Amino acid sequence: MKQTNPTSSRRNFVKKMAAGAALLTTAGPSVLSAQNEIRQYWLARDKPYSANDNIQIALIGAGGMGTEDTKTALQIPGVRLIAACDLYQGRLDEAKNRWGADLITTRDYREILNRPDIDAVIIGTPDHWHKQISVDALLKGKSAYCEKPMVHDVSEGPAVIAAQQKSGKTFQVGSQGMSSLGNEKAKELYESGAIGQLIYAEGFWARNSPTGAWQYAIPKDASPETVDWDRYLSNTTKRGFDPLRFFRWRNYRDYGTGVSGDLFVHLFSSLHFITSSMGPNKVMATGGLRYWKDGREVPDVLLGMFDYPEAKAHPAFNLSLRVNFVDGTSGNTYLRMVGSEGAMDVTWDDVYLRKNLTTDPMDAFMAEKSNELDKALSSRKRMLPPAEAHFKVEDGYKGAHYDHFANFFNGVRNGTQVAEDAVFGYRAAAPALLCNDSYFEEKTVRWDPVNMKRL
Ligand SMILES: NC(=O)c1ccc[n+]([C@@H]2O[C@H](COP(=O)([O-])OP(=O)(O)OC[C@H]3O[C@@H](n4cnc5c(N)ncnc54)[C@H](O)[C@@H]3O)[C@@H](O)[C@H]2O)c1
Repeated sequence: MKQTNPTSSRRNFVKKMAAGAALLTTAGPSVLSAQNEIRQYWLARDKPYSANDNIQIALIGAGGMGTEDTKTALQIPGVRLIAACDLYQGRLDEAKNRWGADLITTRDYREILNRPDIDAVIIGTPDHWHKQISVDALLKGKSAYCEKPMVHDVSEGPAVIAAQQKSGKTFQVGSQGMSSLGNEKAKELYESGAIGQLIYAEGFWARNSPTGAWQYAIPKDASPETVDWDRYLSNTTKRGFDPLRFFRWRNYRDYGTGVSGDLFVHLFSSLHFITSSMGPNKVMATGGLRYWKDGREVPDVLLGMFDYPEAKAHPAFNLSLRVNFVDGTSGNTYLRMVGSEGAMDVTWDDVYLRKNLTTDPMDAFMAEKSNELDKALSSRKRMLPPAEAHFKVEDGYKGAHYDHFANFFNGVRNGTQVAEDAVFGYRAAAPALLCNDSYFEEKTVRWDPVNMKRL
């Protein structure tokens, strides 16, 4: 993508808004006519994804997200689940109950990778297993959909990239939001110059509940018999059995990646998709453990600041992200992109575009027009664009998660490029992981986003 040129992009944007407005007469609700009007546009896909032949899959890590991933994957025509792997017996029993007694189950993911009847795996394990299982799966000739963040430590990214390249298999990281209609519309608006030059972006997550803060229920039957504890720890520090470290793994640094790896990574994926950015070069973090003092090793309030250097795709800009798990106002999430001529609030299902009418985006056209007109007409009233446009998905939209899986299986079937391959996934994970490094090392961390190296 070329760097945004404010004048030509403004022209493109006005043209696109005009086209959108024309559509409204058939597809949208009636619009307000006042100066502060809000226009609403429906987001929809032109055509559904098509299915050619069957793809046989297995799930590795049959917990909360792995199960949701599999349920979504099975909505794609032609996808069949053959096997599931987990380290807790309760999860394997649940999987059989859900998907049938003939589902093959195991505690050892390598058994799944050795099966010739499996084309692709979904990896829904805690973060500390993502790299090893992804690399092993790819090198065994399986396509893989790995949950975010792609890796647990920034040093692990190159191995996954190399395995994807060597295997030639399809690999998708699970930041599903970037495949949404909302993110696609935001990208289109951004590229058409709707907000002018990008200056600043911000995002946050706010939560205020025990489960929101990762205090999940511990199953009553959790024990060394029902949990394969040794295997769980086989790539990290050895310790005695501790169900908290197994079922609430996000709170511990050996397995999880804190709020940054869990949540910031979604915003990096969306922002990088919308702006075609490779990432920031400077990362600074602060925060603290303010409330959920349950023995966790990671902060429950985290503030991250990221400098994006000028790149081919975008001007230099700043990003600020925050997570607050102690938010008494009950919580919210957003990604806001602020430019010289407007701002966008972006979610997976909608985009609010706001323009500041005191800096009239039609100025260039008015100037041209008044040259053509008699001087006496120069005080003529102007047509103003809408102050706010709201783009919203149509009812029945299957959502970002479905789109991300459809995109993955298109890659598996047809060899097409996926939305979030290993390089993209690493560039999204790295600033999130470096944010943790900055917090724990108490220093500014430098990153080379082009060559993907910590400096
Ligand atoms: N994309 C999203 O929106 C989203 C949302 C939630 C979680 N996630 C990601 O999904 C992953 C799983 O999170 P979760 O909330 O489902 O956790 P979870 O604890 O509910 O599930 C993890 C499962 O992995 C199993 N497991 C652990 N080590 C394993 C191993 N070596 N082999 C096989 N199974 C193993 C556990 O027994 C557990 O059942 C994480 O990486 C998380 O970041 C993504």
